[in-house]
Amino acid sequence: MKNLDDLLSEGVRGRRVLVRADLNVPLDGEKITDDGRVRASLPTIRKLSDAGARVVVTAHLGRPKGEPDPKFSLAPVAGRLGELLGADVALAADLVGDSAKSVVAGLTDGSVALLENVRFDARETSKDDAERGALADELAALVGPDAAFVSDGFGVVHRKQASVYDVAKRLPAYAGGLVLAEVEVLRTLTGDPKRPYAVVLGGSKVSDKLGVIQALLPKVDKLLIGGGMAYTFLAAQGHNVGTSLLQEDQIESTKQLLAEHGDKLVLPVDVVVADRFAAEAERRVVAADAIPADWMGLDIGPRSVELFAGILREARTVFWNGPAGVFEFPAFADGTRGVAQAIVDSDAFSVVGGGDSAAAVRTLGLPEDGFSHISTGGGASLEYLEGKDLPGVAVLEGER
Ligand code: 3PG
Repeated sequence: MKNLDDLLSEGVRGRRVLVRADLNVPLDGEKITDDGRVRASLPTIRKLSDAGARVVVTAHLGRPKGEPDPKFSLAPVAGRLGELLGADVALAADLVGDSAKSVVAGLTDGSVALLENVRFDARETSKDDAERGALADELAALVGPDAAFVSDGFGVVHRKQASVYDVAKRLPAYAGGLVLAEVEVLRTLTGDPKRPYAVVLGGSKVSDKLGVIQALLPKVDKLLIGGGMAYTFLAAQGHNVGTSLLQEDQIESTKQLLAEHGDKLVLPVDVVVADRFAAEAERRVVAADAIPADWMGLDIGPRSVELFAGILREARTVFWNGPAGVFEFPAFADGTRGVAQAIVDSDAFSVVGGGDSAAAVRTLGLPEDGFSHISTGGGASLEYLEGKDLPGVAVLEGER
């Protein structure tokens, strides 16, 4: 797969380079609450800009419904990107329309512009190859015949979308530094990881993680389960889970996992329950098999943290995806903090798998350098570990 260094050695001064970045950051109104993905996108953009390229960044924010929606404007991201780069980043008001054309035409060597949310165009996420292809044609035309494409949005490489996949078939395409680094780390995990290899999975739904759990169980030494999905596991063991999150339709498949891999699966032994889903809810610590009928589990308890921490401290390879509890509520953040701290304290090669867990590391004030790698792609890294093809990577590897 050709990469950014190959492109830089070809020379990019004065050349337009379209960069697909993942700038999908959490927002509170117009305020970015975690700019990790913007920062992770900087090195590639900066290298191109320093080499004199005219950089056109395309990215999505959230899941708008295929039409412009001010709530999902990339304006706050353009501002933050400019601050971090120390240079103005012009934001085009559209993707491939008059504003984008004029912004691209106005670029000088080394300058950077951002196109408005690519998902404001329904063709981006269309299942129809021709529709996506038509948008990719327009994106390629926007940057012109001598342009190059750098795919650096690792968080979206599992999406077969116009700006991720189809455009890479229309322009000379290169993997950006972030995509390269992320893929290399994941290869370490799927190759020959140092043992013991422990995985911690959290998050709300078993159904979202079933595929990756099934793929990981034969490869790992221990798989620790936290977060909302733990309650479906506890229910599968026959425990009452009160009003906790429960996927009844997953109980059978969960029972099967426990029957086949009970020796590797580690479940919480106690939980922090709440009388309602609220930051200021009343809380209690109870045994995992004694959740009161009208209460819901919102975090793993202290004995579970000890149990998990013991395993993580011994591990030599750790992958963590998904918070152990509702860490956004301070009263229910101890489980996630405890898991993260145990990983920081271990000498393991440790990978945090994107999304909420990466945000948790930063929100809870844990040292980012306490982890070997913090991925920017939750869904993408899980799909990779599940053994699925990532269309945005396959296309760079020459799948045409
Ligand atoms: C993410 O947030 O995981 C990526 O930006 C991909 O977003 P998506 O799940 O909406 O495609």
